[in-house]
Amino acid sequence: MSPRTKVGVLISGRGSNMRALIAACEAEDFPAEIVIVVSNRPEAPGLDFAAKAGLPTRVIDHKAFPSRDAFEAVLHQVLHDAHVELICNAGFMRLLTIGFVEKWRDKQLNIHPSLLPAFKGLHTHERTLKAGVKIAGCTVHFVRTEMDSGPIIAQAAVPILPSDTPDGLASRVLEAEHQIYPMALRLVASGAVHVVNDLVVWTADLPKGDYEPDILISPPFANA
Ligand code: GRF
Repeated sequence: MSPRTKVGVLISGRGSNMRALIAACEAEDFPAEIVIVVSNRPEAPGLDFAAKAGLPTRVIDHKAFPSRDAFEAVLHQVLHDAHVELICNAGFMRLLTIGFVEKWRDKQLNIHPSLLPAFKGLHTHERTLKAGVKIAGCTVHFVRTEMDSGPIIAQAAVPILPSDTPDGLASRVLEAEHQIYPMALRLVASGAVHVVNDLVVWTADLPKGDYEPDILISPPFANA
């Protein structure tokens, strides 16, 4: 890999996680740079932000393709042409087939707003509250073909408050997402993590300064 790993970010909507990644990549010592932002939805608000940040953007509207394979062939080509080495899915709402996932095995990250393997799929926060669990959170993982599955790179825990609504919980989890996604990207791009037997293992010398233990646990319940 080049000194700074070349990243392609895939979005479908607002792109707040993409913004967190863009901000992280602005630091000179960050081991990754974003070389393209691709959206499968032409109206995704994140596209405008990325363009204003000076990044190349591309719309690949999945509705314009007769099949998933045809869509993914173009997506792969666009990423390849941009010299992408690592993909970050950031609110990318499109299931990918085994062909694409395997081409990018251990080179594609996703973020999901739960402590995986709990609460895969949509309407995460509603289901989290309905289940009565007391700790929510978020996960960055390598992508596998099963939705929201794959070796876990980083997680953050977010305590559930008695007054929580799905929207309130979502916004606190989102803040944690914005912390762990850049951290996870740093870990992968710097080579501090590896996949062994389909699990992520950390090397002994994690990069300094971006893996504070207290990021994993939000302020204690009583202080929230
Ligand atoms: C985030 O909650 C992410 O975990 C999920 O979709 C949401 C995308 O938000 N996969 P944004 O587009 O990054 O703001």
